[in-house]
Amino acid sequence: MKIPVIYVSVLIGSLVLSFAVKNSKASQACWCWSQGQGMVAKPIVHRVSKEYLSYGSYGMEPDWSNSQNLLPLNYEQEQGKRIFYQQCVWCHADSTPSGPSNRSNLTPIPHLMNDGEALNKMKDIEIIRIIAEGGRRVGRSAMMPPYGETLSMDEIYDLLAYIRVIANPAYPGNAVSGSGLSVNHSK
Ligand code: HEC
Repeated sequence: MKIPVIYVSVLIGSLVLSFAVKNSKASQACWCWSQGQGMVAKPIVHRVSKEYLSYGSYGMEPDWSNSQNLLPLNYEQEQGKRIFYQQCVWCHADSTPSGPSNRSNLTPIPHLMNDGEALNKMKDIEIIRIIAEGGRRVGRSAMMPPYGETLSMDEIYDLLAYIRVIANPAYPGNAVSGSGLSVNHSK
C-alpha cells in the first residue's frame, strides 16, 4: 500500500513543480532588445524652442558689427538665419555670400537686418506683418516683397527670432523664441 502512495505523491509533486517553473518570470526567454540598449528610434521633436535648451546652441552667427563676437543661435534662430540668407540677404545686408548686395540700389534703402536702432523700435507684430504682407500693405515701399505665401508662419517667426538675436544694439525685450541665451554685443 505504501509504495503506490509515495509514487503518486512524488508524481503530483513534480508535476506541480514543473508547472510552477514553466510559469515563472525567469524561464520566459525573450529574444528582444532590452530597454536600455537604445535600439528604439525616438521621434525628433521640432518647434518648441525650450526643448532645445538642454542640447546647447545650434549654431553661431558672427556679430555683424564685430566678427570677433560670436552670437550663439538656438534652433529657431538658426532656421531664421538660413531663411534670411536664402531670401533677404540681397536687400538687408551690405554683402552676400555670393558678392555685393542690391541694398544700395533700393529706395528707401532698407535697414540692415541687425540695425537695432530701427528694428528694436518695431513691435514683433509689426515685423511679422511687414514680412508676411510686404511693404505696400503696411503703407511702406512695395520694394519689400510679401512672404506670406512663400514662407510658413513658423518660418516668419524664425526670421523674427533671428532678427532679434542679431540686433545691435541688443534687443531689450524678451527674445521671441525664449532662447534664454544672453547676447553680448561689445563693439
Ligand atoms: C527686394 C528687396 C528686399 C527683399 C528681398 C527683402 N526686403 Fe525687407 N525691405 C525692403 C525695403 C525696400 C524695405 C523698406 C520699406 C520701407 O521702409 O518703405 C524693407 C523693410 C523691411 C523691414 C522693416 C524694417 C526696415 O528695414 O525698414 C523688415 C523687418 C524687413 N524688410 C524684413 C525682411 C525679411 C525678413 C526679408 C526676407 C524674408 C526681406 N525683408 C526681404 C526690401 C527687401
